[in-house]
Amino acid sequence: MKILIKREQSKRVCFAESEKSRTKFKQIALILMSLLMVCCTKDDEAKATTVQETGKTLVVYYSYTNNCHEIVTSLTSQIQADVMRIEPADKMQKYEANNYAIGTALLNAIKAAPNDAASYPTIDPVSITDLSQYQNIIIVTPLWWSQMAAIMQTYLFNYGAQMAGKHVALIVSSHSSGISGVVADAERLVNNVTWMGDALWINASNHGNRASLIQDWLPSLNFANGTTAIKSLTPDPSRRGEGSIYTLSGQLIDNPTHGIYIKNGKKVIL
Ligand SMILES: Cc1cc2nc3c(=O)[nH]c(=O)nc-3n(C[C@H](O)[C@H](O)[C@H](O)COP(=O)(O)O)c2cc1C
Repeated sequence: MKILIKREQSKRVCFAESEKSRTKFKQIALILMSLLMVCCTKDDEAKATTVQETGKTLVVYYSYTNNCHEIVTSLTSQIQADVMRIEPADKMQKYEANNYAIGTALLNAIKAAPNDAASYPTIDPVSITDLSQYQNIIIVTPLWWSQMAAIMQTYLFNYGAQMAGKHVALIVSSHSSGISGVVADAERLVNNVTWMGDALWINASNHGNRASLIQDWLPSLNFANGTTAIKSLTPDPSRRGEGSIYTLSGQLIDNPTHGIYIKNGKKVIL
């Protein structure tokens, strides 16, 4: 009996011993595998090619008799931009009636108290209320009695402050009058911006050539750049496994702080 018990005990000891060595073997194998994986994941480092993309552009315009609308159509066939048309709240107004008396009265009210919101004719709510996504804005407006059309003045009175820091350009449509008064109105209503090139004047005699006038004018505009974007990532064998860190805009960085970066072509959080 005693012999049987002893045999049973030694069997259990043997089993426990072999279980122990199996676990140890598994641990060693795991360590070896992870070491192997670390060695193998030392890929060629990725080299980023970046491009500066032109910032987003908004074309904002008012048009009573659709000349500015036609100008905007020509403009947006040549550049990529979002477009917003400003509309007066009162659609029945005939600004040209009584020898343009209504248009004149609106302008006189603004002139009398340019800092008072009540001086400006009401416009419909605009479709884009937050301009923060745009780096460039092109304002297209008619001229009324050598000034900026009152409806566009309302828009700029309400939203001009949001244009601060942006690149802004101006196109003015008139029958024949020069546009210096409209430029002055724009400068009064829109401050702290970088004016792009000279304002483009399109009048009745050259309205038919608007496409080529715009084409000639566009290169004079210094459009603001938007974000730097990564165009492509290519392996760079010369930096194999060095693990350099790039910003999301592709700039090599030596001492990264906390944030999201690119390492070996993959996004990493440090
Ligand atoms: C109230 C009012 C006043 C205007 N005053 C002038 C002016 O002083 N000189 C001029 O050359 N054109 C004047 N115009 C004509 C417009 O500037 C011109 O027709 C412009 O192309 C209109 O643009 P739109 O069709 O986009 O509204 C006036 C038009 C209106 C409605």
